[in-house]
Amino acid sequence: MVEELLNSGRTSVTPASGLGPKRLTEIDVSAEERLPMDNSEFARVLGGGVVPGSLVLIGGDPGIGKSTLLLQVSADVAAGGPVLYVSGEESVAQIKSRALRVSNGAPPPENLYLATETDVDRVIGQIESVEPRLAIIDSIQTLHSADIGSAAGSISQVRECASRLQAVAKSSGVAIFLVGHVTKDGAIAGPRVLEHLVDTVLYLEGDPYHSYRLLRSVKNRYGATTEVGVFKMGTSGMVEVANPSEAFLAERRTDAPGSAIAVTMEGSRPLLVEVQGLTSPTTFGHPRRTANGVDTNRLLIITAVLTRRVGIQLSDQDIFVNVVGGLQVKEPAADLALATAIASSARDRALPPDLALIGEIGLSGELRRVPHLEPRLREAVKLGFSSVVLPKGADLGLDLPSELEGHEVTSLSEALEFALRT
Ligand code: TYD
Ligand code: MG
Repeated sequence: MVEELLNSGRTSVTPASGLGPKRLTEIDVSAEERLPMDNSEFARVLGGGVVPGSLVLIGGDPGIGKSTLLLQVSADVAAGGPVLYVSGEESVAQIKSRALRVSNGAPPPENLYLATETDVDRVIGQIESVEPRLAIIDSIQTLHSADIGSAAGSISQVRECASRLQAVAKSSGVAIFLVGHVTKDGAIAGPRVLEHLVDTVLYLEGDPYHSYRLLRSVKNRYGATTEVGVFKMGTSGMVEVANPSEAFLAERRTDAPGSAIAVTMEGSRPLLVEVQGLTSPTTFGHPRRTANGVDTNRLLIITAVLTRRVGIQLSDQDIFVNVVGGLQVKEPAADLALATAIASSARDRALPPDLALIGEIGLSGELRRVPHLEPRLREAVKLGFSSVVLPKGADLGLDLPSELEGHEVTSLSEALEFALRT
């Protein structure tokens, strides 16, 4: 139980609308403008760039690279006008040295202002005096308002500070980014408590032991919510990965059993990923099922389908599944690759190196169709795959790449028969 002290009188500012209702026809919208920036991956996830007056929440685990990415974005946007970066966690000297580290030798932008401040009223004062086009608050959990009795980072503080900043963004047209640490500890409010309040929610994800980072949009009032940007954390900051499939398949061993290639969609973009499966006799107790990068329930379902519908004996086997590169694959279209990776390991037989697998698996062992087949197939061809197993009846466009041989199957057992034939 955590004590929450309430507001001592002053209520939070509501967005400055002030006017009565207007007819829809009377409201005039200028063509939606976006702040120019070079970082095209970041701009794409936002739906085309930073919208003036928007409030954007960027969440992620501590240490995943939020400050690094946002400092780079600040320097990028500062090329066209003033940007204010407010940190409650680091000193200006630390931020400057990081800025030099990520700038690749370029001189620091003239228009980037740094401040270390934790009082929300003073932060708002700074926004009013600098008049930036973009302000970054790193992080919302370090801000506090003197009107609220509870400690910085508590739910009431985080909500109050965010709604004050929301009012500033709407009334002044300054775009504001809030950094929010995802916390396991209930004493500090995580970014989820703000999701309803902000215009856009982005999450930066990735396995801390790998260098790839995915910036995923989960809510966006100004663009599609399925967009994903891929970055790589290097020695001088986050670098955009223009061709993620190639990067994720770079270390693949093609002759090893238990490796299958799935073609997933990350937002509007197809991505080829390697799914690995390993079965090993259980030595003690219950057989284990360990999933890394895929949902454990999905693994259990697919294991059951492999056992009952295909007849692969797995009840005395531990099963481990891994998606290479620290990725999380949630799409059902990767089911077939997952099942095939496990079957390939169980039968100790490698798949043909140029084979990609697409399809969702149903409980009766049938292979189901998936959307966006055409971009998936194009991506597979681009990466040199010449053969693909896919669900029957999938509507293949006439302009299907001729380099690709498609094998349409109706069931998992048919797919495995083809994939493990050698
Ligand atoms: P940071 O941006 O501070 O994470 P967050 O703000 O999400 O907590 O990133 C911290 C990690 O990134 C840290 O472990 C060091 C690493 N890093 C690099 O690998 N390369 C770099 O150029 C920078 C600036 C940081
Ligand atoms: Mg940080």
